[in-house]
Amino acid sequence: MEVQILPTKQAVAEALSEYLVAWCQSREAYHLALSGGSTPKIWFDHMAAHFREQLPWDALHWYWGDERCVPPDHPESNYGMTARHLLEPLGIAPDRVHRVHGEARPDDEAPRYAGVLEALLPQAHEMPQFDLVILGMGDDGHTASVFPHQMGLWDAPEGCVVATHPESGQKRISLTGPWINNARRVVFLVTGASKAEMVREVLEGPEAAKHYPAARVSPTDGKLLWLLDAEAAAGLSAEFIASCGGIGPVLPGK
Ligand code: 6PG
Repeated sequence: MEVQILPTKQAVAEALSEYLVAWCQSREAYHLALSGGSTPKIWFDHMAAHFREQLPWDALHWYWGDERCVPPDHPESNYGMTARHLLEPLGIAPDRVHRVHGEARPDDEAPRYAGVLEALLPQAHEMPQFDLVILGMGDDGHTASVFPHQMGLWDAPEGCVVATHPESGQKRISLTGPWINNARRVVFLVTGASKAEMVREVLEGPEAAKHYPAARVSPTDGKLLWLLDAEAAAGLSAEFIASCGGIGPVLPGK
């Protein structure tokens, strides 16, 4: 696991954009699963504004690690947010975008989306393998849409499941642990002071993996990178930070 702490949210967006450029250099197709929520917006906006020429956009295929069970034009749609901040500004071709059908019946959509991933992604360990999964983390320690009150979903053998938000009861479609941990690379994108306590708990807590889905992310063959801004990293101990990559831009490990 690599942890990189950058001074600001903008610096995190810049570092992740550079990471993507350094990584997307050789293959004709890359399969990336995105997180939703609000954190990725600044990264999407930065790429749309400054990376039009630097990335092989035609080689990138976009998927989602989770989606709210709402229509794509609903204000809470992760796809809708990504379309507004990244896909539309860059004119990404529709055949590169593989959204979860949030408008569908959740129990129908989970297996349908799993089938899409089985059909489109290369396989490893008899499971679809993403090249890169971007994850966020809630201040309750959830990731994708696996929440602490449904820890058992993390180990579900189905690649996609129907999850439920603990407060709102909103249905979600979410990747599960086996498929997330089958990725070649996983990057946690976590910023803001509200996440600091949970970042410390997940990264340093002795029993975190028992309680928090975010602590269960551990790519089998791949690399894990936590990209944090200083606010989200504020709770980490000096010893832990000394053991990490410190502060500065990040490029993929060789
Ligand atoms: C979602 C996300 C979820 C998100 C975290 C953090 O659908 O909400 O995929 O896992 O990454 O909840 O959300 P924020 O970025 O809004 O803090």
